[in-house]
Order: sequence, then structure tokens, then C-alpha cells
Amino acid sequence: MSKIVIKNQKDIDYMRVSCKLAAEVLDYISAFVKPGVSTNELDELCHDYIVNVQQAYPSPLNYVVDSNIPPYPKSICTSVNSEICHGIPNDKPLKNGDIVNIDITVYKNGYHGDTSRMFLVGDVSLPAKRLCQITYESMWVGIEQVKPGNYFGDIGHAIETYVTKFGYSVVHEFCGHGVGQVFHEEPQIVHYGKPKTGEIMRPGMIFTIEPMINQGRRHIKFQPNRWTAVTKDRSLSAQWEHSVLVTDTGYEVLTVSPNMPLKPKFIG
Ligand code: MF3
Ligand code: CO
Ligand code: CO
Repeated sequence: MSKIVIKNQKDIDYMRVSCKLAAEVLDYISAFVKPGVSTNELDELCHDYIVNVQQAYPSPLNYVVDSNIPPYPKSICTSVNSEICHGIPNDKPLKNGDIVNIDITVYKNGYHGDTSRMFLVGDVSLPAKRLCQITYESMWVGIEQVKPGNYFGDIGHAIETYVTKFGYSVVHEFCGHGVGQVFHEEPQIVHYGKPKTGEIMRPGMIFTIEPMINQGRRHIKFQPNRWTAVTKDRSLSAQWEHSVLVTDTGYEVLTVSPNMPLKPKFIG
């Protein structure tokens, strides 16, 4: 039996609010992502914006996933270059040519909204830009599979098929997830796999699609802080994330904001 929550109209209305707030934090922080700024400074700016302007709570702060790992110590995740995800902000300045994922989750009215984008720091090499662009496109290729009656496996299959054409690989150890009154709830949505596998999508389900795509091989290792995953071969990694609602006819992206990047042209 499926344990996937079907959201009611009230849940959906609150999720629209939380998801929009998360996307608006990314709009807000984008002007500060420049060579010389530290990820701790970005963390503090986002924290203050979420708490003081949005009157919300940054879901990552003190988040516990596993009793063997210390609670997450910061309000946002900042994953630079070969960091795949859960990069912990620190005092090291970003430098010209870096790529950085900023992942924001905001908790408001009892609901979480979760979204992330890649940012280019100064002048970025063509291969690094291309990785960020193809990863963005792959997220949308996954989102396009969202409609009632489709399988969760269809999402992963579409993403994997798309990125492998470019010689990239899909990280297996982290996945998209249901999101709502719980930060990470069922189902787990892997970004690889076979069509027509897993559960069937139904109207009212809300989940994230957040492919992590490596320039080299897919394998990961953890940094000593136990949170941050990096590519084993030290190649670059990129990630984008939206929270998406299954509607009666298809999908609605909930993590929208005035300055969000446009849909790729080839997406309907
Ligand atoms: N926002 C991340 C995700 O997309 C989860 C971060 S958990 C944290 O699921 F504790 F590392 F912040
Ligand atoms: Co997520
Ligand atoms: Co996230």
C-alpha cells in the first residue's frame, strides 16, 4: 500500500506559499554570489532574510537525518565545484570560475518548500557552464514526465537518458522526495532507472525533482563532516531542484519566483 500523502486544497495553498518563499530566497541571494564572498556570508544573508523578512524558518538548520550524524549546522546548503550536495557553508571565499549550488528549504505555516539553483561565480569555463545547463535541462526533462498515470520510474529514466548522451553520470545515493508537512517524505524519486517502474503518480502528490549530475563518474565519497558528498573522481557536479504538484492534467511547478530561470526552449 502506498504511503504517499495526497495533499488537499488547503495543503496545496500552503505549499504554494512555502515553495514561492524558497524560490524568492534564491532570487534575493543571486546578487551576492560574486568572487570573494564566503558561503558563510551567503548563509547569514539567507538566514536573516528567511527569519526576518519572510517570518519563516530555514528547514536545514539543526535538521537531523540520522542519529549517528550531528544535526545540520547551517540554514542553507552551498555545494561548490566537485561537491555534489549538502555542502556546509564556511569562511572560504568563492573564487572566479567556481560553480555553486545553493539549496533553500523554507518552513512556513507548517509546510516546507524546497528548491535549488546553480550559480556561476564570475567567468566560468565553457565545460562547467555546459554541465550546469544540461543539468538544468535534465530537471525539466524529468518534470515533463509528471502527470497522473505516469510512473515515478519514468522521471528517472528520462533524466538518465538525457544526461548520458552528453557523457555525464547520475548520482545514485541521493534522490528527490515527497515534501509537505514533513521535509523528506515518501516517495523517494531516483534520477535514473527504468520506465513504468515504481508507483503511479496521482493528482495531489507533491515532490521534488533534484538531479545531481557529474561531469565524470557517478561515484561519491563523504567529507569528514559526514554531510557533504563530493565526486570520488573530483570532477564537477551540478544540481537543480524544483518542488512539483501533480495536477489533474499534468504538473504545476510550485517553487516559482519573479527571477527564476526560464524553461528551456524545447520544453512544451
Ligand atoms: N534541501 C535538501 C534537499 O533537497 C536537503 C538538505 S538537508 C540538510 O532535499 F540538512 F542538509 F540541509
Ligand atoms: Co529536496
Ligand atoms: Co533542497
